[in-house]
Amino acid sequence: MRAIVYAKYGPPDVVALAEVPKPRPKKREVLVRIHATTVTTADWRARSLRLPGGFSVLGRLVFGIFGPRKPILGTELAGEVEAVGDAVTRFQPGDRVFAFTGGRYGSHAQYRTIAETGLIVRMPANLGFEEAASLSFGATNALSFLRDKAGIQRGDQVLILGASGNVGTAAVQLAKHFGAQVTAVCSTANVDLVRSIGADEVIDYTQEDFAQARDRYDIIFDTTGTTSLARCEPSLKQRGRLVAVQGSLAQMLGLERASRQSGKKVIAGVAAVTAGDMELIAQLAERGALRPVIDRRYPLEDAASAHAYVDTGRKRGSVVLRVGACARHFNNDRAALQLSREVRPVRHPS
Ligand SMILES: NC(=O)c1ccc[n+]([C@@H]2O[C@H](COP(=O)([O-])OP(=O)(O)OC[C@H]3O[C@@H](n4cnc5c(N)ncnc54)[C@H](OP(=O)(O)O)[C@@H]3O)[C@@H](O)[C@H]2O)c1
Repeated sequence: MRAIVYAKYGPPDVVALAEVPKPRPKKREVLVRIHATTVTTADWRARSLRLPGGFSVLGRLVFGIFGPRKPILGTELAGEVEAVGDAVTRFQPGDRVFAFTGGRYGSHAQYRTIAETGLIVRMPANLGFEEAASLSFGATNALSFLRDKAGIQRGDQVLILGASGNVGTAAVQLAKHFGAQVTAVCSTANVDLVRSIGADEVIDYTQEDFAQARDRYDIIFDTTGTTSLARCEPSLKQRGRLVAVQGSLAQMLGLERASRQSGKKVIAGVAAVTAGDMELIAQLAERGALRPVIDRRYPLEDAASAHAYVDTGRKRGSVVLRVGACARHFNNDRAALQLSREVRPVRHPS
């Protein structure tokens, strides 16, 4: 099968189209023929090793000390079940599914095997493959941070920084689903977008400083890593929380603290995702309460261009890779050539 692989950390052109072995489903696995996947900020970080402050050493331990441990990136996908293992009961060939492969990656390919008990569910009937592929990264992360870590409640005042991004667009919609009053912060170009997905108020940060507000928010949800508890503290209510999705090491270690009497705190960490979260996301999408936002689409073989766009840090929602017959191939490159013998670069058709 064809896949996008990388053999060293670096700029977008370290990813390349290659021929790799097609996986076979084990007893309790399904084999998905992928129709669409995405390039997310997780792919950008794993490819470039550009990590939030304090994480550079830890990053190499996670992704591979001398080079990437997992040659195929891609955290989410949508497609059709092509085959199932002998013991699989939940899925059958032909089912349309979407899945979150998260830190296991492996979705930038024509096929991926996934445990039937993993983060895989049937696609909402009203979505196409590209939309379904764009559902899980932003929504699972937003759900984990808003509901599980921050304990969002009906009637909460929630401010979302980076509201036009992948996690941000999901966070706006999920916060509305949980009954919060949402103020979204974004640049001028994205004001209409965030309003269209349900934000009650929008702050264009080029015109106005969100931090002028006093005792206003129960939750400040920051996907941009541009703020701190010290800056947010006056805007948070008593017991308010700064949710640092892109948390620094200091924030993760709990070193950013407010006075004990205020009860204000930073919440940071890594999102934890369950199969139940995936079911909820599918249901919300089916009801129209969660609409994936797609910015650009690229063919799988142009993954390097998709990475370059994600690297700008300015995408809106998701960047999709269409996985079709891979009509156009290119013989790239150093990255592919350095891979194990199992992984062969694809040659131009003559
Ligand atoms: N802890 C975890 O488990 C976890 C999980 C998922 C993601 N993350 C992290 O969360 C972050 C956001 O991810 P994402 O996928 O949502 O990113 P994204 O889709 O690239 O969106 C980022 C948004 O931030 C805004 N932005 C960029 N630079 C800014 C700046 N200097 N000031 C204000 N806004 C700025 C941009 O909107 P405008 O153009 O409108 O400014 C953009 O839409 C990433 O750093 C990612 O690594 C962490």
